[in-house]
Amino acid sequence: VLGLACAASTGAFDLEGHRGTRGLAPENTLPAFGRAMSIGVDTLELDVAMTADGVLVVSHDPFLNPIHTRDAAGQWLEGKRGPLIRSLTLAQLQAYDVGRIRPDTSYAKTFPSQQPQDGARVPTLKQVFELARSRRALVRFNIETKVYPDHPEDSDPPEVVTKALLAAVREAGLQDRVTVQSFDWRTLQLAQKLEPAIPTAYLTVQTRNSDNTRDPAWTAGLKLEDYGSVPKMVKAAGGAIWSPNSGALTEPLVREAQSLGLKVLPWTVNEPAEMDRLLAWGVDGIISDYPDRLREAMARR
Ligand code: G3P
Ligand code: CA
Repeated sequence: VLGLACAASTGAFDLEGHRGTRGLAPENTLPAFGRAMSIGVDTLELDVAMTADGVLVVSHDPFLNPIHTRDAAGQWLEGKRGPLIRSLTLAQLQAYDVGRIRPDTSYAKTFPSQQPQDGARVPTLKQVFELARSRRALVRFNIETKVYPDHPEDSDPPEVVTKALLAAVREAGLQDRVTVQSFDWRTLQLAQKLEPAIPTAYLTVQTRNSDNTRDPAWTAGLKLEDYGSVPKMVKAAGGAIWSPNSGALTEPLVREAQSLGLKVLPWTVNEPAEMDRLLAWGVDGIISDYPDRLREAMARR
C-alpha cells in the first residue's frame, strides 16, 4: 500500500487522516480508518473515550452525538447530546448506528462527500488496531484523549483514561507506533512519565473565543507568560510535537518550534490552498479530513 513505509518517526512528512477520513466516511468508524489506509496515510488520527465497563472506544464526543447517531429502532437521537459514553456499557453503546449524518444538519452540508456506512458502530480502540493489523498496514496512531478540565463529569479523570490508553497500547505491542495527543496537557505529562518512549503532541487552540495555552487548567499548571511563546512552553513541558490549529500558525512560529527541536503538526487542514501554504512553510505533517487532497498537494510539490 502506498505511503505506508513513510512513518513520522523516520523524519519524513506525516500525512494524517483526521478521524480516519471524515470528509469521505463517517468519522472515527472502521470504514473511515479502512479508507484512510487505502489512501495511504502515514497516521490515523483518532479520539478516545471510555465506556462504563472500562473499554476504550473511538469517539470525538464524550456523548453520542445526535448529528450522526440513530438508535436500535433506526430513530435519530433528539436534543443536543445523547447519552454520555461513560454511562453506557460497550454492548449498549454498540447498539447505536453512527454510519450516517442526519441530513437536516449543517454538519451534513460541511461534509457533502461523506459516504454513509449504515450499520457502522462506535469501534473499540482494539478493533482499530486489529483492522490495521489485518491489513498489514504499518500506520501510526495519533490518539487523542478527550478529557475536560472544564467538564470533568463528561469523562473519566485524565489519569484513568491515560493509564488505560497506555495499557491498551502495551497490550497491542504498539508503543513504537503511537503518539498521544491532548488539549488537556495533564494527559501528556502523565504519559511522558509512565511511557517516556511514546511521543506526545501538545494540542493548542488559539482563536478569538478560545485559547487553552492561557489557561493553566488545560496546560497542567504551566503559564504562557513564564515562557514567552507557545513553542517554548511546549518544549519546556517535554513535548515532541506541537499541534496547533492551522489558523493560528505562522511561518515564524514554524521556524521557532523546529529550531527548538519540535515537530509541527497543524490540524485540521482541508483546503488545497492552505495545504500548499503549510507545505511551503515546511511543517512536519498535516492532519486532514481529506488525506486524498493532501496526497495531491504533496504531489504538486
Ligand atoms: O488532532 C487534532 C484535532 O483532532 C483536534 O481537534 O476537535 O477534531 O479533536 P478535534
Ligand atoms: Ca482529535
